[in-house]
Amino acid sequence: MKYSNQNFNNKTILITGGAGFIGSNLAFYFQENYPNSKIVIFDCFRNEEIFSNGNLKSYGHYKNLINFNGEVICGNINNKSDLAFLNDYKFDYIFHQAAISDTRVYDQNLIMETNVNSFYVLLQIAKKNESVIVYASSAAAYGSLPSPQTVGMENPENPYGYSKLLMDQIANRFSKQNPEMTIVGLRFFNVYGSREFYKAKTSSMVIQLGHQILEGRAPRLFENSKEILRDFIYIEDVIQANIKACNTKHNGTFNVGTGLPRSFQDIADILQKELGTNLGTEYFLNPFEGYQMNTQANISASINSFGFQPYFSLESGIKDYLPEIKRLLGKNLS
Ligand SMILES: NC(=O)c1ccc[n+]([C@@H]2O[C@H](COP(=O)([O-])OP(=O)(O)OC[C@H]3O[C@@H](n4cnc5c(N)ncnc54)[C@H](O)[C@@H]3O)[C@@H](O)[C@H]2O)c1
Repeated sequence: MKYSNQNFNNKTILITGGAGFIGSNLAFYFQENYPNSKIVIFDCFRNEEIFSNGNLKSYGHYKNLINFNGEVICGNINNKSDLAFLNDYKFDYIFHQAAISDTRVYDQNLIMETNVNSFYVLLQIAKKNESVIVYASSAAAYGSLPSPQTVGMENPENPYGYSKLLMDQIANRFSKQNPEMTIVGLRFFNVYGSREFYKAKTSSMVIQLGHQILEGRAPRLFENSKEILRDFIYIEDVIQANIKACNTKHNGTFNVGTGLPRSFQDIADILQKELGTNLGTEYFLNPFEGYQMNTQANISASINSFGFQPYFSLESGIKDYLPEIKRLLGKNLS
């Protein structure tokens, strides 16, 4: 389904982080809807390195790109000589998704270098190429502030959230200095959907709980999960936001959520209903202090500026996603 009248055919489109979850979905969106677009993916892909939290350092995976016919550059956004490959192109659009996406990484130096320093470079590339640039910010910039989360009131509580807030501030300044440019930051809330599987433990609870249930186990949730609310947003709506953002009335930072918070318990219950199971729920103590209890995106600015309109409820998103969750059951992560 096309999300705008803009014709991306014959356009050159850079997707950083294009081997990851959101980036690969964007790549397929363009490939399927604009077969004459030239799509260039830049991603470091995963290697065997892990953070002290036991998670991989990057999640780009070739399996997200099987059947992708565009160009793929394996490079590190921290590395100037890798970025030099991009000099061979003139990009009309840049979708900047590459980042350390794991919110529980505390290596501040590496997070700032990867998420923040690289952004200065990408903005300069956009300026030189006169490209529209849409980049991934995050709801993590809000920390545990009360809902609804609104741009302008931020209090990040981890290095990742802080790095995304810094990106928004950099974009804001750059935008003022270059008012002719289109620069849009999208604060994604909790995204779920196809091609997130290789994010392993950092994938959404939708696929994690889905696999527990399909294995015949009771879904495992923190105690009080009925009261822990998140703004879960389906990947299709995130793609919609990226596409529509190219035609924004105003530059700035915008929320991408449904505006309707739902509980983790809802996910488990919807999955069980769809799968026809009655396994109950296994609760365990939440080990995290100061855990965010409620997120709800204020999406009025996104609606007003670029006509964002989330189509998927948690029910319809899970229903749409279930065949893929079933297909991936028991598959190897490597
Ligand atoms: N998925 C969500 O719920 C969510 C929520 C808020 C914000 N975001 C943001 O959206 C963007 C995409 O997230 P995602 O869920 O697709 O994560 P992801 O980890 O699947 O994708 C990020 C991609 O960036 C690549 N990458 C990481 N470090 C790199 C480097 N140094 N050089 C080049 N490539 C590098 C990874 O290999 C990966 O393919 C990220 O910026 C993330 O912070 C995601």
